[in-house]
Amino acid sequence: MQKLVLDKEYWNSKYERQQIGWDLGTVSIPLKEYLFQLADKNIAILIPGCGNAHEAEFLLQHGFTNVTVIDIAPIAVEAIKIKLKEYDNKELHVICGDFFELNAVFDLIIEQTFFCALDPLLRKAYRDKMFDLLSQEGKLAGLLFNRIFEGGPPFGGSREEYLQLFSSKFTVKLMEECHNSIIPRAGSELFFVLVKPTPML
Ligand SMILES: C[S@@+](CC[C@H](N)C(=O)[O-])C[C@H]1O[C@@H](n2cnc3c(N)ncnc32)[C@H](O)[C@@H]1O
Repeated sequence: MQKLVLDKEYWNSKYERQQIGWDLGTVSIPLKEYLFQLADKNIAILIPGCGNAHEAEFLLQHGFTNVTVIDIAPIAVEAIKIKLKEYDNKELHVICGDFFELNAVFDLIIEQTFFCALDPLLRKAYRDKMFDLLSQEGKLAGLLFNRIFEGGPPFGGSREEYLQLFSSKFTVKLMEECHNSIIPRAGSELFFVLVKPTPML
């Protein structure tokens, strides 16, 4: 069988055909709870592979002032610019492009079905890019699937695999079974928080 090429055309056609079964239509409950407890609303936040940017919408509605979203699919990005136009180029920075080519620094990066959308061969590149995009003591937080899928995307994995992948670069603050997933994902998600450590002198 021919391998899928998960490029801009692939993802854009998903939005064109409205084949977006991953889209919850809102911010996920675990992320909502996590975002609610953030005290500093001026931190620089990135949402990669943002799709319809529900997390960004939530953050902006709750007073966050520095939110960046990036997606490779132009149709998704255009829709965000319309939906969130009152924030665009102010509190919100909308980028149409490849996450792996982004150059900037953030205090928090949010993961919501982006990791699982990437070819598993890119997992080390994802880890390294996340590391480069974070400030010292910056965090990568969100959800990962704790199950295997046939085919993909989505591509799943396990807690053990993720710990091995990320602990070489990050401090793993949390990587636990998620207790408040939406029903179809119940028992198959991990909530995680990784911290980019300050280098020892
Ligand atoms: C499974 S969807 C998840 C979308 C959104 N996070 C959600 O949960 O609704 C994966 C998203 O990642 C985007 N994407 C895939 N590869 C990307 C890349 N290299 N850079 C930026 N975005 C990418 C796709 O266009 C798609 O919107």
